[in-house]
Amino acid sequence: MLIREFLEKRYSAREYEQKQLSENTIKTIIDYAHEIEASIKSVKVRFLFLKDGAGVYEKLNGYAGYAGVMIKSPHYIGILTEDENYRTQIAASYAMQSLIKKLFEMGLGTCWIDFSNAGARLQDELAGSELRNINYAISVGYPKKESRFKFVYVPSAAYSNVSNNPYRQISESKSDKSGDRLPLDHFVFKDEFGKQISLDELEQRGLADIFSRIRNAPSARNLQPWRFLIQNERIVIAVKNPASKESMTDAGIMMYLFEGMAHDVGIRGEWSLLPLDEFEYESDKYAYVGEFKV
Ligand SMILES: Cc1cc2nc3c(=O)[nH]c(=O)nc-3n(C[C@H](O)[C@H](O)[C@H](O)COP(=O)(O)O)c2cc1C
Repeated sequence: MLIREFLEKRYSAREYEQKQLSENTIKTIIDYAHEIEASIKSVKVRFLFLKDGAGVYEKLNGYAGYAGVMIKSPHYIGILTEDENYRTQIAASYAMQSLIKKLFEMGLGTCWIDFSNAGARLQDELAGSELRNINYAISVGYPKKESRFKFVYVPSAAYSNVSNNPYRQISESKSDKSGDRLPLDHFVFKDEFGKQISLDELEQRGLADIFSRIRNAPSARNLQPWRFLIQNERIVIAVKNPASKESMTDAGIMMYLFEGMAHDVGIRGEWSLLPLDEFEYESDKYAYVGEFKV
């Protein structure tokens, strides 16, 4: 499945049929997870398949998820790392998001869950693992059919400067349980922070479609901390609140999705990480984290 289709259809599933996945399905997932682990060369990340979802739910309700509200699902998959360096966090969420895409292709629902207070309660589950550090996991299972409005792709309506757009109202009035997204001109800039880039220029550079779609990336508390600078031959990604684990995790997710979208439209290239360079913009802290040569 192309990333564009995944981005159109994906959402965080928070209600599941309490039906276990078959052994075969679990094996397919674990095999694929091993392939991802082997492909991440820069740092060591490992997936932890937690088969006994009911047991994990029991242990973690009150400790994992937003304000301790744990999502109930038949299974969970944690992502383990050796440290909490920003490079490690980015590699871990990049890896997890690529597993999520595979799970989506298999007809499974997922939702990222904050596990940063869960590690101490998962000592038994972590005992056999080479790595013990866990900050995030996903729920996984067959999602319950639900009444969520689908993400509707309306390219120019995603740009807040376009005023006479017939679709504008449709896009803005769309009730999306998943939460609203920033308009393009709030997170994509030309050359420097705050400097507008026109939709025409984005279109000419073949980037309008990419940015309109990647907005649908998941992010912790839907905070969408990512910002992009379009420079001559490179695109730079920065994040708000670089000291938070959430921001770096969101950055890795976004880097995976951006790269996939770029490849889908024939733009080759990959991200390289930048040394964290912090700065302030409109009283918030930001840092550049990666560059993509186009
Ligand atoms: C790093 C990360 C952590 C998240 N943690 C939770 C969580 O603990 N509980 C939850 O219900 N959703 C969690 N989410 C899901 C986000 O709330 C969701 O992605 C966002 O609201 C946008 O909705 P959507 O994914 O349906 O498009 C998390 C997402 C990310 C990327």
